Amino acid sequence: IMALQENGMSTKNQPNILVTGSTGGVGSIAIQLLSKIGYNNIFALVRKDHQVDIAKSLGAADVIFANELGELKKPLNKQKYDFVLDTVGGDVASVIIPQISYGGSMSMCGNAGGIKLTTTVLPFILRGINLLGIDSVNVPINKRKVIWYEIANEWNISQTTLVNEITLDTLPEKIEAIKNGQHLGRTIIKY
Ligand SMILES: NC(=O)c1ccc[n+]([C@@H]2O[C@H](COP(=O)([O-])OP(=O)(O)OC[C@H]3O[C@@H](n4cnc5c(N)ncnc54)[C@H](OP(=O)(O)O)[C@@H]3O)[C@@H](O)[C@H]2O)c1
Repeated sequence: IMALQENGMSTKNQPNILVTGSTGGVGSIAIQLLSKIGYNNIFALVRKDHQVDIAKSLGAADVIFANELGELKKPLNKQKYDFVLDTVGGDVASVIIPQISYGGSMSMCGNAGGIKLTTTVLPFILRGINLLGIDSVNVPINKRKVIWYEIANEWNISQTTLVNEITLDTLPEKIEAIKNGQHLGRTIIKY
């Protein structure tokens, strides 16, 4: 979110923001944070019917089903999203890049849907869009402190985060749920 804001995303003009993997651990928190910050036009990419109400309860204005994204046929497509927070990568990210509006940006932090990215230079050289790589593992401590401060104050969503706690013996059921796309939010294993 900070990377996108550094590249022009602002509540002042209420841009259209797409969050992929929206009911997953990263995506669900991203939607809640965006909503808490004051963004209204958040679109959540979902795959299943039961994810619709969840995404909306997190703060999404509407949902887009992954199969509605269309196919990757043209290097440039109708401009729909000003900013994209992508956690899925692969074909999903590839098909979204041609739909990013002029001057928009996409942050990429995940590969839940694959590591391969298929694109052309055209969205970059004709629409001036940006791809922003996000790593959370080796972020310098100074930047972490800024982020932690925000999360502890203005961006505090700790009361509403989708978290459930399990013990080790129920872990196989959770893993099955993840594999079947039935898992929501974050699961903490109490050891
Ligand atoms: N860069 C970093 O520092 C950093 C930090 C944390 C996480 N990550 C990465 O970010 C990604 C997301 O992490 P997470 O913890 O949020 O994972 P997660 O809880 O498993 O959520 C993944 C989400 O992606 C969706 N998804 C998976 N494959 C998809 C596809 N082909 N098309 C559309 N949606 C798809 C899932 O939908 P269903 O529920 O329908 O399956 C789910 O909503 C992972 O790749 C993780 O490794 C990176």
